[in-house]
Amino acid sequence: MTDFKNVVMNERLYGYMLAQAQPPNAIQAELIARTRALGESAQMQIPHEQAVLLTMLVRLSTAERIVEVGTYTVYSTLAMALGLPPTGRVITCDVSEEWTAIAQDAWRAAGVADRVELRLGEAAQTLRALPTDAAPARTCTSSLSPSPPRHGEV
Ligand SMILES: C[S@@+](CC[C@H](N)C(=O)[O-])C[C@H]1O[C@@H](n2cnc3c(N)ncnc32)[C@H](O)[C@@H]1O
Repeated sequence: MTDFKNVVMNERLYGYMLAQAQPPNAIQAELIARTRALGESAQMQIPHEQAVLLTMLVRLSTAERIVEVGTYTVYSTLAMALGLPPTGRVITCDVSEEWTAIAQDAWRAAGVADRVELRLGEAAQTLRALPTDAAPARTCTSSLSPSPPRHGEV
């Protein structure tokens, strides 16, 4: 008997799933291309379908404040910012100046630069430095890196 609870993802099913999702817009497509050009590290970028889900979850949760650990080349940050209302904010942190350098262009082009704040440095320090009086009504924490190149105490 087939166990329908555990459907194995294959190329056909994945293709079908992608066909149902909103495709990357021009800014996202450029971000994917620029990230791929970085080489091996590009595998850290979340796939587009996860970005679609993130935007939707942020919108549905009506979150207004998001703290993200692990910006990389900002694909997930952009996705979450797109789900926020104009008054919403994402604080995103990363240790890499090189990888996050792509950020400003993408946020500006997408019209969400005023919703995003990048903090460079160890996540643990960034999180500790968050003001407690700015405690958000709703916070969504996202994108903790399980992968190289760096892990510290978070
Ligand atoms: C898997 S990537 C994040 C992918 C990203 N969310 C996206 O959608 O493209 C992980 C990121 O976490 C960063 N990172 C790893 N350890 C960190 C730490 N201790 N503090 C801050 N950033 C860290 C890495 O520099 C890397 O850019």
